[in-house]
Amino acid sequence: MKGMVFTEFLELVERTWSPAMADDLVDACELQSGGAYTSVGTYDHREMVKLVVELAARTGQRPDDVLHWFGGGLFGSLAASFPRFVEGYADALSMLAGIEAVIHVEVRKLYPDAELPVFEVSRQDARTLVLDYRSPRCMDALAHGLIDACVRQFGGGVQVRRAPLGPTHADGSRFTLVRE
Ligand code: HEM
Repeated sequence: MKGMVFTEFLELVERTWSPAMADDLVDACELQSGGAYTSVGTYDHREMVKLVVELAARTGQRPDDVLHWFGGGLFGSLAASFPRFVEGYADALSMLAGIEAVIHVEVRKLYPDAELPVFEVSRQDARTLVLDYRSPRCMDALAHGLIDACVRQFGGGVQVRRAPLGPTHADGSRFTLVRE
């Protein structure tokens, strides 16, 4: 997982709780990297899982809720760092329809070693977009937070539902987005 995801996570923890909270998380997780992330480096995604589980334990939340919250913050910083991926779209559905074929394709050019999920995208009708998320990292709650934040960025008005694609978490999730 790219270092920028880790640095964004720790910055968000600092802003939401405190710098001490971010330091405590890193210390408690006994990370192989030591927690000294650089934005261009690449690290084991299990370090992110550890940080998320530790923050969840310390704040009385479920790890899924922490990942969803993180997705909200991460979208803001991605949109600020890569405005061209967000600008020029009429609405959230138009932007998200290009998550696989446009946005993450461009991300892959910038970071050839990025570990990206796979989204199967289908446009059911003018009001409905279906995104099937699959990833060995099982971060569907992060995807959910990113999608919700994207909808908010374009002024809301889209209902987002998440349903499992199979009996295990590893099967992924289906996001159905319906314009109200
Ligand atoms: C401004 C637009 C976006 C940019 C620049 C961007 C870029 C990235 C980058 C750099 C990573 C990290 C790759 C790695 O760790 O190696 C990533 C991961 C991810 N992205 Fe995006 N992304 C964007 C929008 C979105 C949106 C809107 C979604 C949801 C539909 C999404 C879903 C994810 C997920 C879930 C991951 C975590 C990896 C995984 O699940 O396997 N991204 N993205």
